Amino acid sequence: MSDPAASEEIRKVLITGGAGFIGSTVASACLDAGLTPVILDNLSTGRREFTAGRIFYEGDIADAALLDRIFADHPDLAVTVHCAALTIVPESVANPIRYYRENVTKTLELIEGLVRNDCRRLVFSSSASVYAAGAGGEAGEVDEDAPIAPSNPYARTKAITEWVLEDVARTGELRAVALRYFNPIGADPEFRTGNPNPEPSHVLGKMITAYQGAEPFHITGVDWPTRDGSAIRDYIHVWDLAEAHVAALRNFDAIVARHIVPETSRSEVPYEVINLGTGDGTTVRELAEAFQDVVPGELDVRTAPRRPGDVIGAYTGTAKARALLGWAPKHTVAEGIRDALIWARTLAGTSAPSRSADTDTDADTDTAAARQDRSRRSDAKAKPPEPVVDVLMPYYGDVGLMQEAVRSVLAQRDPHWRLTVVDDGTETGVPEWFDELIAEHGTDKIHYRRNATNLGVTENFQKCLTLVTCPLVTMIGCDDRMLPNYIGTVRALMKAFPQVSLAQPGVEVIDDEGAVVEPWVDKVKRRVYAPRVQGAAVLGGEELAVSLLRGNWMYFPAICWRSDVITEVGFDPNLRVVQDLALTLEWVRAGAQIVVSDTVCFQYRRHADSVSSERAYTGTRFTEERDFFLDEAAKMDRLGWRRAARAARLHLSSRLHAATLLPGALRRGSGAGARRLAGYAFGPTRRRIG
Ligand SMILES: NC(=O)c1ccc[n+]([C@@H]2O[C@H](COP(=O)([O-])OP(=O)(O)OC[C@H]3O[C@@H](n4cnc5c(N)ncnc54)[C@H](O)[C@@H]3O)[C@@H](O)[C@H]2O)c1
Repeated sequence: MSDPAASEEIRKVLITGGAGFIGSTVASACLDAGLTPVILDNLSTGRREFTAGRIFYEGDIADAALLDRIFADHPDLAVTVHCAALTIVPESVANPIRYYRENVTKTLELIEGLVRNDCRRLVFSSSASVYAAGAGGEAGEVDEDAPIAPSNPYARTKAITEWVLEDVARTGELRAVALRYFNPIGADPEFRTGNPNPEPSHVLGKMITAYQGAEPFHITGVDWPTRDGSAIRDYIHVWDLAEAHVAALRNFDAIVARHIVPETSRSEVPYEVINLGTGDGTTVRELAEAFQDVVPGELDVRTAPRRPGDVIGAYTGTAKARALLGWAPKHTVAEGIRDALIWARTLAGTSAPSRSADTDTDADTDTAAARQDRSRRSDAKAKPPEPVVDVLMPYYGDVGLMQEAVRSVLAQRDPHWRLTVVDDGTETGVPEWFDELIAEHGTDKIHYRRNATNLGVTENFQKCLTLVTCPLVTMIGCDDRMLPNYIGTVRALMKAFPQVSLAQPGVEVIDDEGAVVEPWVDKVKRRVYAPRVQGAAVLGGEELAVSLLRGNWMYFPAICWRSDVITEVGFDPNLRVVQDLALTLEWVRAGAQIVVSDTVCFQYRRHADSVSSERAYTGTRFTEERDFFLDEAAKMDRLGWRRAARAARLHLSSRLHAATLLPGALRRGSGAGARRLAGYAFGPTRRRIG
């Protein structure tokens, strides 16, 4: 960063409320920008796991002794981002004293503590809810000079805090920037953290809940003077919001310095207010349309009259933010919806956090109808536990082995699974066998369908993916076996590591007879290529790409994926042998992390004469492998991952594999196969023409 206006000395940032939705995302953006966040949070609504690996002090913003200790430990803290607050509008209506105490009185204590410790820069999380309802007029656009008239106690705590900051800034004791957020949606695109509330009650939260519960979504109020009659909001991606904070920190001194009038005795107040939105309003109807474009299924959209307390809403221009922060939002509403959905599924895959679902946060007001909605939903939740892991079984081949595989799913100790078998074959008796199984276990547990025509391996895998509804997915081979601890193990891993896209647990290899064996290929995978893990370890980035390209040590059928991750990339129809590696690397390049565990809970069957071994002896599988590795090398080069590109170009384990098959090919009398194998194993890495 060579911006001359940058606040050079800012390296470390105190973030109050850094375990909450916005504070934790700001902390991630700071880390990515090379700033060190120090988090202060009492975990009243925040989540401890959002602070993992970060400097964290658990406690209250009004705890003077704690604050002094933080500054004694970190004398280089140069600025505070103050996100800590209670944010639930109806709660503030019911208990205003608590809200004024938590959000206003405690902020006074905090300011005193900051001034006492000589940390005199403050960025404040304010809110668009301070503006008067309808301040944007018919067009709906408000700027920073629009009239202030907060309509509920929560919003008033924000307005009052702004006035306090302005008054303190006037004394010269503190300089402050208040950022008025519009409607934050989405999550950190790396999904390190997100909204801790599983059912945020803003419009998008309700849409997600309706979609996931296959319930209708109601647009309440279609007679507003907007372009399509529905209310308008300004949905800003929380990552854009977080980056605006980084820009505010970098430019802090310049932003407030423009208030010191040079060579005069006159000094304006070193206090600034900046709206953070997209510059573009989105109506509820438009949001529903964008939602439909993002999700694979249908959202049942209905209309209803306005509810008491509904407001037309507003959006903001971004001129001031652009000018003072040098920042502009980059993410679309669709990206915000997608990331919110992925995050909602991530949360559903973990246990629900402690925060009550009966919440309405900033930006939307509560109504009796909304409360009714929620109580209906909580009735529904009294039902037996929902499945969390979709076990998909694309089936073709041996009936007996498939039945063994199915029984291994039925024997799981953890009941949070649902099995979907897509039959690509024509074996007689199979549909009837499933009919009986479904009669015993119910359609909630077991789905079976047979394809009208044979789709082939990749297309059948792809078809399975279209049937995903749970937040986690495992694609078990129809000849593999889960050990009874599989579902419990992968659920626990995905819960413990909310940032990862997939979990690779420990695997045993079995032969045709079901005996545990260790063929040479698995020996090499384990001893040479696989990372040595005790317990569980999170891996990602180039390091992971290099290790997978040297030798693919993962066992695809044993992997548990976050469903959005596997469904978004899908399978490359051109690949037959390395499709699983292709899919994993795609995500590693996109920044995904994985967790690897040494808990053995899956049995992977390696046949002596599988299709892939046959293809191997004739050398045809390596044609695909060579082209794949060359493509990967080019992709890694484009990313600047030189070591990974080199590993892809060398693809040593794959060549070694070809070399070890040579004697077998010769024994089978396959001269052409042997030549192909030798060329691949020892020849130059060039793409075959034609
Ligand atoms: N989310 C929105 O739609 C929105 C919109 C505008 C403004 N804001 C403001 O952004 C800020 C963050 O909101 P959020 O959505 O991340 O809410 P959140 O509830 O997820 O985060 C608030 C965090 O503050 C912590 N906290 C609360 N009181 C505390 C105290 N006294 N001491 C220490 N920690 C305390 C909580 O534990 C939590 O981690 C709030 O100030 C809120 O008013 C939010």
